[in-house]
Amino acid sequence: MFTDCSAVPIADMPEPRKILITSALPYANGSIHLGHLVEYIQTDIWSRFQKMRGHEAYYVCADDAHGTPIMLRARAEGIEPEQLIERVWHEHTEDFAGFEIGFDNYHSTHSEENRVCATTIYERNRDAGHIVRRTISQAYDPEAEMFLPDRFIKGTCPRCGAEDQYGDNCEVCGATYAPTELKNAVSAVSGATPIKKDSEHLFFKLGDFEKVLRDWHKAGHVQAEVANKLNEWFEAGLNDWDISRDAPYFGFEIPDAAGKYFYVWLDAPIGYMASFRNYCDKTGVDFDAFWDADSDTELYHFIGKDIIYFHALFWPAMLHGAGFRKPTGVYAHGFLTVDGAKMSKSRGTFIKARTYLKHLNPEYLRYYFAAKLSSGVDDLDLNLEDFAARVNADLVGKVVNIASRCAGFIKKRFDNRLNDTLDQPELYATFVKAGDEIAELYEKREFGRAVREIMALADLANQYIDDKAPWVIAKQDGRDAELHAICSMGINLFRVLIGYLKPIVPVMAAQTEAFLNVEPMRWDTQAEPLLDHKINAFKPLMTRVDRDRINAMIEDSKEDLATEQQATGGGSAAVAADSPLARDPIAATVDFADFAKVDLRVARIAKAEHVEGADKLLRLTLDLGGEMRNVFAGIKAAYRPEDLEGRLTVMVANLAPRKMKFGVSEGMVLAAGPGGEDIFVLQPDDGAEPGMKVK
Ligand code: 2FM
Ligand code: ZN
Repeated sequence: MFTDCSAVPIADMPEPRKILITSALPYANGSIHLGHLVEYIQTDIWSRFQKMRGHEAYYVCADDAHGTPIMLRARAEGIEPEQLIERVWHEHTEDFAGFEIGFDNYHSTHSEENRVCATTIYERNRDAGHIVRRTISQAYDPEAEMFLPDRFIKGTCPRCGAEDQYGDNCEVCGATYAPTELKNAVSAVSGATPIKKDSEHLFFKLGDFEKVLRDWHKAGHVQAEVANKLNEWFEAGLNDWDISRDAPYFGFEIPDAAGKYFYVWLDAPIGYMASFRNYCDKTGVDFDAFWDADSDTELYHFIGKDIIYFHALFWPAMLHGAGFRKPTGVYAHGFLTVDGAKMSKSRGTFIKARTYLKHLNPEYLRYYFAAKLSSGVDDLDLNLEDFAARVNADLVGKVVNIASRCAGFIKKRFDNRLNDTLDQPELYATFVKAGDEIAELYEKREFGRAVREIMALADLANQYIDDKAPWVIAKQDGRDAELHAICSMGINLFRVLIGYLKPIVPVMAAQTEAFLNVEPMRWDTQAEPLLDHKINAFKPLMTRVDRDRINAMIEDSKEDLATEQQATGGGSAAVAADSPLARDPIAATVDFADFAKVDLRVARIAKAEHVEGADKLLRLTLDLGGEMRNVFAGIKAAYRPEDLEGRLTVMVANLAPRKMKFGVSEGMVLAAGPGGEDIFVLQPDDGAEPGMKVK
């Protein structure tokens, strides 16, 4: 046993930075759903990580409260828009809190701060000559007395003749067109036939900023794939942007244009600034230090890939035109699919945040999304089978298992006090050192890769415990010191792992801090092990994902649709009879590098026996060419033990040993088939020898 811990290196900690982080502002007329949560979870993990690293980081957001849809929704409910946005603000903040999204401030674009910021940005751009006025002709509803955005005009598709299509594209044939091309066009607001009407509009001259924007993109403030898209837009030419809308409109009236309002997309990104202003006014943080043109602070926007145009063109241009700094990074992510398809209300996969929270632990989803997120714009699939399997295998089976295997002995035999030395300082040092690489991956938003690194460490920790087998030592007299050292080592490794996972699973981390009786962990706290330290009694930190709860959530989501349709008079829900969980989807893909880690070997079944009390299992003694392994296989219904003895089979030889009810299983036999009596143990070709590697 080693006693000298001075060899443990302190993980590199960076110089403190000042960082302002935002997620896109959700509209104030709809519920938060799992599609939204990809972004909030991604941003929150990054923000928590930056804070753990000791940086001065602020994460702000707000409701996007303006625009025609919100005005009309309030009208439909017979309330004022202010009442609607107030109610939705409370719903959104509760949903976000439920998923542990740790905003420092959550404001609204319908706020005094936003009016002031929007006015400043508009007036400075106007005074610098970047705003022009022009009269344009638009669709107008003479009955509702309002101009109609494209999506409020419906009619027959000019290409395929499909009825009831929206003003700019056909959902049936995919055609895109101008609303004027629709046949039999009607207003979706009143049913009246729209007429053409002239009105003066204000335009932001985006083309004035072409050079500024090209330089800014070249300087690496957007992802490479986004830069490519932006080049296409540059080639197509930067058009003037219409930033005004006529009354009636729910928004801010333009200071020098009575009856005209800022278009919702003008004041939406300014909402980032306004939310931060609101926060600074409450806390005394220096607002200007973050927004001045020569600011040395960092500003990051996390967004969906559908709103890149607004964030990588209009927004930096408006900021520049008004003499403010431009963002340090605009990071777009892909969309969420569920079980490989677009979220579907009828299939019950359009899952609202609230519905999820009724059934499942939010940290399951935080972990699953983290495990699948990268820095790119690829879509992300929530495969519900894989979701349960992954959370159960990783968080419960690997991570929590380390603590539960050690904590009982520390409590019962050592009065909850950890040993005063580390059993294996070099293993601990490996864990600490890995923190640098993991931190780099978090920084680059490569969360999936960070998770894989952390799980590889968890495998090492479990391997250490398996090798030491404290449950065996505990039964032997005179080996208390060893038992104490092993279990204390296990707890210390667990602590490092939870520190690395803390940005992803903050609640589990807080419970661990309480269990370990330590201050909130920062990134560098784990550099020093916990020695001769009193911990608290261990309580289970996470339970397994229960498939029934997933099924219940899906059913509930179908009910959400039925409720919505009743509320909107849409008739009964078209509920698909086949639950997505009734199928057995192919699991998510694994990288080749991961697959290559699986060590498949030929093994001879030396012995096969019934296991007392087990309905499905046989105990197999496998001969790997000299090395014997004890493996439990769920093939009792398919094979009589005596028929198996002497046969060759294929096994996973490097599966971490798993403690099962009837003993430790040291590998896995490969078999295929639908189950029950039809399970076929895989057999190698003639000529195979036990221990031979399977290629
Ligand atoms: O697309 C949306 O949901 C918008 N409400 C996002 C606004 S982000 C920012 F610009 F405010
Ligand atoms: Zn069509």
